[in-house]
Amino acid sequence: SALPGLLARAPKAELHMHIEGSLEPELIFALAERNGVKLPYASVEVLRQAYAFTDLQSFLDIYYAGASVLLHEQDFYDMAWAYFEKAARDNVVHTELFFDPQTHTVRGVPMGTVIEGLSRACADAQARLNVSASLILCFLRHLSEDDALATLEQALPYRQHFIGVGLDSSELGHPPSKFQRVFARAAELGLHLVAHAGEEGPPAYIEQALDLLRVERIDHGVRAVESPSLMVKLAQERVPLTVCPLSNVKLCVVRDLADHPLPKLLDAGLAVTINSDDPAYFGGYINDNLLALFNALPQWGPREAHQLLRNSLESSFAAERQRGRWM
Ligand code: HPA
Ligand code: ZN
Repeated sequence: SALPGLLARAPKAELHMHIEGSLEPELIFALAERNGVKLPYASVEVLRQAYAFTDLQSFLDIYYAGASVLLHEQDFYDMAWAYFEKAARDNVVHTELFFDPQTHTVRGVPMGTVIEGLSRACADAQARLNVSASLILCFLRHLSEDDALATLEQALPYRQHFIGVGLDSSELGHPPSKFQRVFARAAELGLHLVAHAGEEGPPAYIEQALDLLRVERIDHGVRAVESPSLMVKLAQERVPLTVCPLSNVKLCVVRDLADHPLPKLLDAGLAVTINSDDPAYFGGYINDNLLALFNALPQWGPREAHQLLRNSLESSFAAERQRGRWM
């Protein structure tokens, strides 16, 4: 069929991609050597073999260990640049990247080192690859709200380098309600607001993210399928869900792609988008996600492909500026 080619070639936006989750084992080892960081894994192969996850936390433990090789501005640049080359190959025209500053500042890496390295790569992605890229600063929800507030204040000298804030890390036991003050502060600063909710957490966490944090998009959100009333609200308000199919399989959020709630969400009129989450850890970049998904869902064809990719462009925070160029 013509569908794989269409999926691969079509222009698309990526709205749920953690830049630290694009760090491939080869680059982890190269940076470890460059920086004299000792890794608890003997080789690239041994590290890759550790990528067998049973839930979100089992992934996060390894993901934070991998990020420990990032020390200098150039390390953050090199990590982001490697992702942008893959994004360009996948015909990503716009990407909104999550980054986790607390993972780095806790190790003594200055906020400016993190943001300036990533931001310089974003500027080069536009200039050299014609990929537009923005940054979204994520708070680690397993840490306190005071820590998140301090992180936001530390990032203010670099306010022009990021467009929004998000919420990630261990979801269960860390509901959106824990972060109301820091999201209110971010709103005052004119930042866009998003949050991970309904990946492992219940539909009530999605409701809290909307009602208490006033987020504009929900990251993951797949457990919305358990609440008919929430499904109606998400459809009526066209709240985008940034869904990550291969991630959901690897972290055992769903049994397999054929069993994914995406068809139910799309049929109910939700603004779902397809994204890669942490592609170095979950077995693929955005086009790998699209191809695997359409391969597993024989009922889906060109109509669904167009709808999903259009949703990605329309749900981006660049959509107003870009209207007419993309749509
Ligand atoms: N969920 C929560 N935290 C994360 C994820 C995720 O999918 N990826 C990176 N940090
Ligand atoms: Zn995520």
